[in-house]
Amino acid sequence: MRPLIDFNSGWLFEGKDTVRLPHTAVELPFSYFDEKAYQRVFTYEKRFAADPAWNGREVSVVFDGAMANARVSLNGAEITAHKDGYTPFEARLTGKLKTGENVITVTIDGSENPEIPPFGGQIDYLTYAGIYREAWLRVTAPVFIGNAKVETPDALAEAKAVRARIELSNPTGLALSGTVTAVLHDAEGRQIAEAQAAVSGESVDIAMDGLSGIALWDIDNPALYTLVVTLETPHGKDEASFRFGFRTAEFTTEGFKLNGRLLKLRGLNRHQSFPYMGYAMGRSAQERDAEILKRELKLNIVRTSHYPQSHYFLDRCDELGLLVFEEIPGWQHIGGESWKDESVVNVRRMITRDWNHPSIIIWGVRINESQDDHDFYVRTNRLARELDPTRSTGGVRFITDSELLEDVYTMNDFILGNEELGGNRPRTPLRPQQEVTGLDRVVPYMITEYGGHMYPTKSWDQEQRQAEHTLRHLEVMNAAYGDPQIAGCIGWCAFDYNTHKDFGSGDRICHHGVMDMFREPKFAAYAYISQCDPEDEVVLKPVTFWARGERNIGGVLPLIILTNCDEVELVYGKNPPKRFRPDREKFPHLPHAPVVITRAHLTEEELGLWGMSWEDATITGYIGGKAVKTVEFVCDPIAHDLEVIADRTRIGADGDTVRVMVRALDQSGKKLPFFPEPVSIEVSGAAERLGPALVPLRAGSTGFWLRSTGKGPITITVTSERLGRAVATLSAG
Ligand code: GAL
Repeated sequence: MRPLIDFNSGWLFEGKDTVRLPHTAVELPFSYFDEKAYQRVFTYEKRFAADPAWNGREVSVVFDGAMANARVSLNGAEITAHKDGYTPFEARLTGKLKTGENVITVTIDGSENPEIPPFGGQIDYLTYAGIYREAWLRVTAPVFIGNAKVETPDALAEAKAVRARIELSNPTGLALSGTVTAVLHDAEGRQIAEAQAAVSGESVDIAMDGLSGIALWDIDNPALYTLVVTLETPHGKDEASFRFGFRTAEFTTEGFKLNGRLLKLRGLNRHQSFPYMGYAMGRSAQERDAEILKRELKLNIVRTSHYPQSHYFLDRCDELGLLVFEEIPGWQHIGGESWKDESVVNVRRMITRDWNHPSIIIWGVRINESQDDHDFYVRTNRLARELDPTRSTGGVRFITDSELLEDVYTMNDFILGNEELGGNRPRTPLRPQQEVTGLDRVVPYMITEYGGHMYPTKSWDQEQRQAEHTLRHLEVMNAAYGDPQIAGCIGWCAFDYNTHKDFGSGDRICHHGVMDMFREPKFAAYAYISQCDPEDEVVLKPVTFWARGERNIGGVLPLIILTNCDEVELVYGKNPPKRFRPDREKFPHLPHAPVVITRAHLTEEELGLWGMSWEDATITGYIGGKAVKTVEFVCDPIAHDLEVIADRTRIGADGDTVRVMVRALDQSGKKLPFFPEPVSIEVSGAAERLGPALVPLRAGSTGFWLRSTGKGPITITVTSERLGRAVATLSAG
């Protein structure tokens, strides 16, 4: 981190529109679009004045990410090219700038270049074209701090230590001398220690020992520290800071240990895509996703499937205490020799960009779900260990008996629902690890996917299907919790995502998320949410829309109630209350087993049979004998209200975004799951709407993002023909 000049505004796109980065080359409809729409070349151009103060300084434009095959020219002459769509690159302007106006041109090619990962085969996601992350101007002394790797050896010892290797950038090859000073700060900015070293080559080692009063980085207390590094050479001064944490992370045959304590990993995979805008969502949307995963879904790990994601996302994971499995780009296909070389370089780019994030605990150094390739994966593993001996490697596979070159056998175990793989045995959520690995010994082992295409489920699917979807997530989690040889499980996946025609429901969507594309939870989301401690949040989520005839034959049984309460009471109509306890028989290992009410628990009267009248119900959760949460269902829902809620009411100026959810509610304030009517969305003031103005509600809700266009008040007006108008006001700036 260093002071950078915002270089995001004023880009002329395709010679026509002036746009701001992050930018998507083609805005897509919600579904049923042609995924070739963005698979071509696009041009961005920006005019800017060279500042005389830059004379004698190093000047570069740093692009955080562009998809893909970016070629950058300055005043007509090409200065750099970068093929990979997921990592940053720099265009060095030093010595090439004219006095006065200069023109920087970036061409990108959205076509799927078979020469580089992840392309060459098929992929189950989209790689939306555009300069879809931010760009910055970096102006420094001619010799400057390029990067630093900060390590915390023996982090559990009483007296802590820091070892940092500061890498200098010296593009003009000047003689090197001078000093590096490193100051350690805590999160409050208090200075904790200082060290100095003389510059004698392109890297400088810094050591700090005997540090006391240091807090460990942990999931509940993600203490962060910053090393502020100052470089002084005869050529000038430079300063950059590097944030990190003190922690240990180990995959063992008994499971995963964070700071020496066993921690069962519970997570979901995340794609970095959003409706309409593809990849091109900036800082607050990235941060918000991390918050949703940690605070709403109560996960302790996320996998950045299947590529390095925005640093804003990772920074937020650091701040929130959300562990990360990060991996190189790719999906099943392995290309030729130069493709593999590029993939090895991807390992380097990923690790050198992200090695200081305490949240990252493992590097994925295989192409997701590819076949074994001994020489290739020896190379990726060797490089990862050389660059970062402090973290384990993993490599996600779905084949059994695959060659283990990594530290952790990371497996997509899609056994549940696959009768062919399951053979004649009973329903099997996860296989024992040695059946998968074929090894004669137990190894560190983690489940990196399950669910997904085995049981795609839309947010507006029938309740019964959604209940089964939820059960499958619960069963796998239960199996993972129950097997000490499994470090944890990361399900497929957090959010629905757009995809190619070869995957998903034909609508270019994989409805595999426990949340939809707007991050609105399906029932299965509560399988995860309900695993949290009630001190964090009391969860009581019956898996039902409460309707007599929604399920086959009718009724709502078996009724799964996702909860972390220790008892649940049901009052149906005028029947006396009945209490139920969590189903510990079926889910003995989950931190919080659901309550499952079946026909065996209720008489026909209490059940409300087909043909009898349908009644209201009240469900109450109890902890330690005390009522802590109540959910009420009405038996005669009527469309009553329209709700509009923005995630925040204050947003930044200059292109900051915020998600807005729209929901149709019944008279008791519950979402109407099958209310499909369209709403029109109008935005006035200092923001613009991303996505269309007229949208249907899906599963009773829809969402959109607003992007600020300056400072001032913003008014959102959502209108439904039946439910009237709902207004929300925000402000930007
Ligand atoms: C896996 C793959 C994921 C996704 C998932 C769907 O095979 O790794 O990217 O396609 O299946 O269930």
